[in-house]
Amino acid sequence: MEEHFKLKDQVELKETLAAKWQAPSNIALVKYWGKHGMQLPANPSISFTLHACRTITSVKATKGKPGFSISYDGIAKPEFAPKIKAYLERIVDYCPWTANYYFDIDTHNTFPHSSGIASSASSMAALSACMMDFESELTATPLDYHKMSFLARLGSGSACRSLQGAAVLWGEHKDTSGSSNFYGVDKSELLHPVFQDFQDTILLVDKGEKVVSSTVGHDLMNGHAFAEARFEQAQENLTILKKALQEGDLDMFIKITESEALTLHAMMMTSHPYFILMKPQTLSIIEEIWAFRKQTQIPVCFTLDAGANVHMLYPSEHKTAVDELINNKLTRYCQNSHYICDQIGTGAKKC
Ligand code: PMV
Repeated sequence: MEEHFKLKDQVELKETLAAKWQAPSNIALVKYWGKHGMQLPANPSISFTLHACRTITSVKATKGKPGFSISYDGIAKPEFAPKIKAYLERIVDYCPWTANYYFDIDTHNTFPHSSGIASSASSMAALSACMMDFESELTATPLDYHKMSFLARLGSGSACRSLQGAAVLWGEHKDTSGSSNFYGVDKSELLHPVFQDFQDTILLVDKGEKVVSSTVGHDLMNGHAFAEARFEQAQENLTILKKALQEGDLDMFIKITESEALTLHAMMMTSHPYFILMKPQTLSIIEEIWAFRKQTQIPVCFTLDAGANVHMLYPSEHKTAVDELINNKLTRYCQNSHYICDQIGTGAKKC
């Protein structure tokens, strides 16, 4: 499969190239946790693509000695360099022309820098979109979204779900033909109308650096006592969730989504060494959401990524009621009362 993505034709290099793309973050419903080889997932996952939380990246490529510079809003960011260096070293096998260019990369995130929202998915997706834009120009061929996702995966696993479509499935799934460990596939066609304008309000409980990075967390699934059962469970949950997405079955959607979030954190708590990324406020918010759902029958649920922040997912028709809940009861658990209103989006776009 990797062979398929290696550009074998010689291309005629241009002196300079320029591209600007934006790519969104995404929120997993069935979670990817555990990997092997070169960023290959131990189990399949599916996510909603977000809209407001995005990275906008401009790249200027100049023919000559290979290398890169990286800045954020025009200000040099040497701390981002190791990730970009590793990324460029990984993609050169698949995009050999990159060895002939110096890349000036400038990025900007629409979400606050230290919000605890990982920018690796949106930033690696936006950078990969720029790279494939160049490859499309040099080869005079249409944009290859599967290869774009393939490259993004080499930068950060979940980034491969941030390129194309409102719902993206990544990883070989027993019940999904065309699913792949190498890239994400657009599954927007699954979405029942109730999901098409779904809201994601992100309650910012903890904006600090994570105590344990996701790289370390993924590694701890190697030899984890529950690993095999977990990977099998993700396969089953994905089958059930796909059906719920198709049928607009919100009860089943809630059951699987919340269970997946808690299972992700249960894996962290049962790793060796064990760790906890949730905070007391995370649990308070979960309890408030459960009480609100019971009382109002409004189908709002939560999910978590590898951190303490809480994503509230719900149909847009309930936005007013959920806003009220947030303002009356939930902002007290957020750092500086901060939260971000987002919703389901469609993927990367050229600017
Ligand atoms: O892409 P990574 O290595 O940052 O891992 C992301 C893992 C989770 O966000 C916890 C789950 C997921 O599927 O996005």
